[in-house]
This record gives sequence, structure tokens and C-alpha cells, in this order.
Amino acid sequence: VTAEKAGFDHFMLKEIYEQPKAYRDTMLGRIADDGKSVHLKELSMTDDYIRSIRKIHIVACGTAYHAGLVGKSVIETLARIPVENDVASEYRYRSPIITPDTLVIVVSQSGETADTLAALREAQKNGARVLAITNVVGSSVAREANDVITTWAGPEIAVASTKAYTSQLIAFYLLGLHLARVAGTQEQAAVEEIIAGLHALPEQVESILEQALLLKQVAESMAHHKSLFFIGRGVDYAVAQEGSLKLKEISYIHSEAYAAGELKHGTLALIEDGVPVIALVTQELLYEKTLSNIKEVKARGAHVLAVANSGFEDEVAKSVDEVFSIPKTLPILSPALAVVPLQLLSYYASLALGHDVDKPRNLAKSVTVE
Ligand code: AGP
Repeated sequence: VTAEKAGFDHFMLKEIYEQPKAYRDTMLGRIADDGKSVHLKELSMTDDYIRSIRKIHIVACGTAYHAGLVGKSVIETLARIPVENDVASEYRYRSPIITPDTLVIVVSQSGETADTLAALREAQKNGARVLAITNVVGSSVAREANDVITTWAGPEIAVASTKAYTSQLIAFYLLGLHLARVAGTQEQAAVEEIIAGLHALPEQVESILEQALLLKQVAESMAHHKSLFFIGRGVDYAVAQEGSLKLKEISYIHSEAYAAGELKHGTLALIEDGVPVIALVTQELLYEKTLSNIKEVKARGAHVLAVANSGFEDEVAKSVDEVFSIPKTLPILSPALAVVPLQLLSYYASLALGHDVDKPRNLAKSVTVE
């Protein structure tokens, strides 16, 4: 059956708009009806095994790797287990320290990425259990892993991953809560607050999508620049990396993602009059720090678009050129909202430049060679 665009001009746009459904479908049946706990019943790992995990490696490529960066934060915050992230093509060759008390999580939309599959095999060879987060039931990664969390994003056709990434974030939130329940690392009230926050996300994404045309204008003016920057701190930096990859993939505009506090260690030299900077400002604790980094780039002439939490936007507006506000959520959940305007920016920039949005040059949907 030929996949249909259902009235959208491109698969990418259709898939961006399918995210509220993908969030709901990925949560379905995994959160207790009373909203008090998360049980991933599909996992065969026992509670004793979970309590024996001493460290976690999250291994993936590209966008899935970026989801893993958020996953690290989520697992460390909720379950207090140390997490390392690895790009799958590097993992095998750095002789990683894999012990039987290491849980290796591989993340792959397709479940067929050669580097990710090789990392999975390397982990198992060294006696670790492998948990796969994948979007394709029956894929190679799903078949070989010891446990699987399926993301129910539905088929993703556009080369640039959108709904698969955000569904991977949802899978990490659920996994973090599952591990935390067994490990006893979170207060019940905090768990319920996160679960309520998760339930609110689909509608919050819908409200962002209603503002899409505001981003079209920004993207059109951005599209004529040779280079731009994405900055943020904490999980905002992880989202910045995904935003930058998305833009490069389909608009072919050079961009770099930087931890906002790191700019002054070199990259600030590249900021000159008119350079667009997209700043993510969603983390309350880091808010003042990020604002001072924004002032550093503004002082060098940057044109700054901030993606900020509603509630902060008036304050942020004083220091930037434009603000796109996203609905209020818990700091840990904000990547699931903040990435959506970045996806739309890339889409509209690619469109403005007349590129093939769904099939960008030199890239394949699934990379089955090493
Ligand atoms: C995403 O926009 C990219 N096309 C790419 O980085 C992709 O995420 C990567 O190749 C991993 O693919 P996978 O999730 O199918 O393993």
C-alpha cells in the first residue's frame, strides 16, 4: 500500500502533525488508569535485575542518539543510575567497559541501522542485557535485544525523523518512571506530577502546531543565512543538537549546536552582525545563566529567536529579537515540546529554499551499512 500524505504537502509535515497521536499511542496501556504509576509489562527484566544495574549505556545514531541524550538526563534524574551516551559507530571501537551489571539501551527508529545492531551484539557478547527502543516491531534490533519498548509512532517515511524522536522521548520518560518505581528513588507525589505532565503533552503539542505559521516567517528570513547557531543548557542543549541536525539535513544550511555556557570558549568568535541564533530557554534553574549567554551573542550583533516557556516569555523578550513560547511543563518534559518549533523551522527553511524535504540529498532513511 502506498503511504498517503493525507492532504499534507510532505510526509515530514504530516509526521510532525501526527505527534500528538504518537505520544498518546506510546503511553497507552503503560500508565496505570489512576495516574499513579508506570508499568512496562512487556519488559522481561525482573525487579531484582533492575536493582542490580550499576550503569547504563545508551547507544544510537543521529536523531536516536539525540533522544538518548535526553534519556540520560531522564534516567539519572528519576532513577539515579549513571548513564553514558555513545554514538553507535564509535562504541565497539573504544573498548567500552561493559559488565554484567551494565544495561545497554539501543535506540533505533528503523531497528535496522548497522552500527546500532553491531553495538547491540558487542554488548551481548560482553554479557550485558540489551533493551531496545524501536519503532519497528520485528526489526533486527527488536529481534536480537533482550527486551523491547516499542514506540507507537507509526511508519515514518520522511528521512528527517520527527515523530520517532519524540516517541523515543516518551519511551524514556516511561522507562525512567518504571526504573524509579522499582528502585524507589522518587516520591509518589513527584511521580504523579510527571504522569500528569505526560498526559498533558499531546494537547500542548497541538497548541504549538496551531502557531506553525509564525515559524514559517522566521524560517524564511533564516533561510538566506550561510550559518547559524542553536544554544541551550541542560536538556535544552540536547534539544539544540537535534534542532541543528534537522536543519542541516533538509535545508543544507550549516549550523552548530552549542552548550550556551561554552560559547565564550571559542565559538563566540563566529558571531557577527545578523547571525541567527536560536536559543532554548526552558529550564527554570538555568534561566538566568542562559539569559546572560544570550546577552553575550546579542552584544556581538546576533539575531536571536528564543524558544521559551510560557511565563518566561515577557522577561526573555527584553533580551532577544523574537520569542516563540511553548506551554508550561515540567523541566524534564520540555524537550517533548521544545523540539516541535525546531522541526517546523527546518521544514519551512527547506521549503523556502526549494529542496526535496522528504528525500534530502546524500541521505537514506535507514543506514544498513557500517
Ligand atoms: C534523522 O533525522 C536522521 N535521518 C538519522 O540521523 C537517523 O536518526 C539515524 O540514521 C538513526 O536511524 P535509526 O533510528 O533508524 O536507527
